[in-house]
Amino acid sequence: MTVPPRASTPALLQLDAILDRLSGRQALAEVCRFLRHTFPHYPWVGVYRVEGTDLVLDAWDGAQATEHTRIPIERGLCGQAVREGRSVIVDDVRTDPNYLACFLETRAEIVVPIREEGRVVGEIDIDGNTVNAFDATDRRFLETVAAKLGPAVERSGAELPLG
Ligand code: SME
Repeated sequence: MTVPPRASTPALLQLDAILDRLSGRQALAEVCRFLRHTFPHYPWVGVYRVEGTDLVLDAWDGAQATEHTRIPIERGLCGQAVREGRSVIVDDVRTDPNYLACFLETRAEIVVPIREEGRVVGEIDIDGNTVNAFDATDRRFLETVAAKLGPAVERSGAELPLG
């Protein structure tokens, strides 16, 4: 599936409006909700924040909660994107030994680092329900989204932990 320019441009404007209106974890939660509801091939959308040697799930939207609310950076596709400082697309999670399973339905995954002043401070993680769910248009679009989220992730880290 793809994100054509005619879909990405209005979506980026809507994301700007969300980030003008909200900050920190509230902004991240609204961004996850917006992405999930705008793009049907994004059934589970999360934002993890780097905290020491771990990734902490700060916001998500999807049908089910994940048990992976804290992931050591040395593990999983989520850890790989931070370790390598680049976006990771896995076309078929069943063939990738790094994959940490969350949901039975998941068949593909994309993880895109979020940077602030050059440092990786977090990432967008999207689970898809079909093999080959994500392509280069998703990567380009989500890298543009991620470039907007650094301040919200940093602020989220300064807020109280989730109950
Ligand atoms: N599959 C991820 C773990 C997080 S869940 O997808 C929400 C991974 O391999 O790191």
